[in-house]
Formats: sequence, C-alpha cells, structure tokens
Amino acid sequence: MGERGAAVAAEADVLREGIDLGLSLIDTAEMYGQGGAERVVARAIAGRREQVFLVSKIMPQNASAAGVPRHAEESLRRLGTEVIDLYLLHWPGSYPLAETVEAFERLREAGKIRYWGVSNFDAPAMVALHRLAAGTACATDQVLYHPDERGPEFDLLPWCREHHMPVMAYSPLGQAGRLLRSPALRAVGARHGVSAAQVALAWGLRDGNTIVIPKAADAAHLRENAAAASLTLTAEDLAEIGAAHPPPRAKRVLSML
Ligand SMILES: NC(=O)c1ccc[n+]([C@@H]2O[C@H](COP(=O)([O-])OP(=O)(O)OC[C@H]3O[C@@H](n4cnc5c(N)ncnc54)[C@H](OP(=O)(O)O)[C@@H]3O)[C@@H](O)[C@H]2O)c1
Repeated sequence: MGERGAAVAAEADVLREGIDLGLSLIDTAEMYGQGGAERVVARAIAGRREQVFLVSKIMPQNASAAGVPRHAEESLRRLGTEVIDLYLLHWPGSYPLAETVEAFERLREAGKIRYWGVSNFDAPAMVALHRLAAGTACATDQVLYHPDERGPEFDLLPWCREHHMPVMAYSPLGQAGRLLRSPALRAVGARHGVSAAQVALAWGLRDGNTIVIPKAADAAHLRENAAAASLTLTAEDLAEIGAAHPPPRAKRVLSML
C-alpha cells in the first residue's frame, strides 16, 4: 500500500472497512512505499485513532541512538498520530542491539511509543536480546510463518510461548502464491464452506499465541479474512494440513522476505 498515488484513497477505504469489521491492528513500516504506506494509514485512522492498535517498524540502518528518535518522529508525522502502539526493529542490523533497545526505551519513556519489539529475529537472537538490560521488555517477534514456512515451530515459537511473548505471523497467506493452491487447504476449506485463504489464517491463529497480519487491498479479500477469525479448525483438519505441510524435524534458519 502507498506505492501508487492513484490507489491511496481506495487503500485507505479498505483499511477503514477493516476497522469497522473489528480488524483493529494495523501493521506498517517506514520502509513500505518509502513512507507512503504510513500516509495511507493516516488517512484511514483520521478521527478514529483510539480504535486501532498501530504497529510500525524502523529499518536497521536507521536504528542508532540518534536515528531512532529521528525516524520515530518521521513515522509519527506521516501517521498523523502522537504515539505508535508498537514499534519494531524491522530485521537485525549492524548497530549494537543494546543501543537500539536503549533508544526504544527512551522513546517509551517519552510517550512516543507504547511498546517495542523486533522482527525477523531467530531463536538465538531472541536469547541474546533477553540477556540485555531492558531486553525482556520486548513485546513481540514478527516473523514469516504459514503452512509452508513452519521453521519457527522448532524452537522460536516454543521460546516465545515460554517467555509469554505473542508472535506476529507475517505473509500468513504465503503472499497468495502456491500456498493458496494447496489441495489440503482447499479440502479443509470445502468441508467448512470457506476458502483456502481463510483456512490458512485460522491455521495461523490456532495456538492462541500468534496473530496473523494478512494484507488485503481488495475489499472482498478483506471481508473474507475478517470472517476467518471465527473459523476453528478441528484436529482432523490440522492433521490433514500437517500431512501436506509437515512441521520441521530439525532446526532451520529463520526464513525472511
Ligand atoms: N516484518 C517483515 O519483514 C514483513 C515482511 C513482509 C510482510 N510483512 C507484513 O505482513 C503483511 C502481509 O504480508 P504479505 O503482504 O507479504 O503477504 P500475505 O498477507 O500473505 O498476502 C498478501 C496477498 O494476498 C492477497 N490476499 C489477501 N487476502 C486474500 C484472500 N482472502 N484470498 C486470496 N488472496 C488474498 C492480497 O491481495 P489484495 O491486496 O489484492 O487483496 C495480496 O496479494 C504485510 O502487509 C506487512 O504488514 C512484514
């Protein structure tokens, strides 16, 4: 979103309809559309800021002691808000993590963000983060996770659960590629009278510690995705999906897009 000026109004409309449907978490980043996505979000939340939980991200090359407050202010300005609910380090970078965490804590104390977290951090990186002075304040790890990307189940998801940290699954529809043609997802969907996309979202939500953040610019997709929140998969469904999309049997390095 926010990459084409001509589409901005329609994209904001879809986000607004999502809020109407109760999809109150909006995930964005300074990187998306080079700030354009944050501007779309600003249009969507104008006059209803209190109804949404806003997530944005800083790129690692900006995540220094001086860069964090500057880039956060720029995101706040583009988003047209006083506070970002959750501010994430988009992926691990070269500035010392302790420096970024310290800068996030200063932002929190200044009331510019409510929580901070990370994205694309594998389990060893989470362990290292937790060793830092304020590292345990990390609110989430946002990672690539869907039925064809189950690597996080081996160690990362258990670690997050053990540390009472919710996980955000990005690209939960596999970017609407091969995943949505999965015969298993389609067969399960047919039993419930829903689409493969809805099955993928319900699958992502199944453990109660993970939220899914599908992107939809198409209003029909948005409505379908919102309805997936009330779909509960049975043990038989999960077994069928697991047979076609097996969980990892060994450690795999975290994939990222
Ligand atoms: N932290 C990170 O590094 C990172 C990386 C990638 C993504 N993300 C976050 O995750 C979000 C989602 O990821 P994503 O966009 O990569 O992948 P995704 O949500 O898995 O897939 C998006 C694609 O699926 C289509 N779609 C949506 N609902 C559908 C439905 N019900 N049926 C069929 N197709 C449907 C969308 O089309 P339409 O738009 O036409 O509706 C779009 O082409 C992003 O918006 C971003 O916020 C984070």
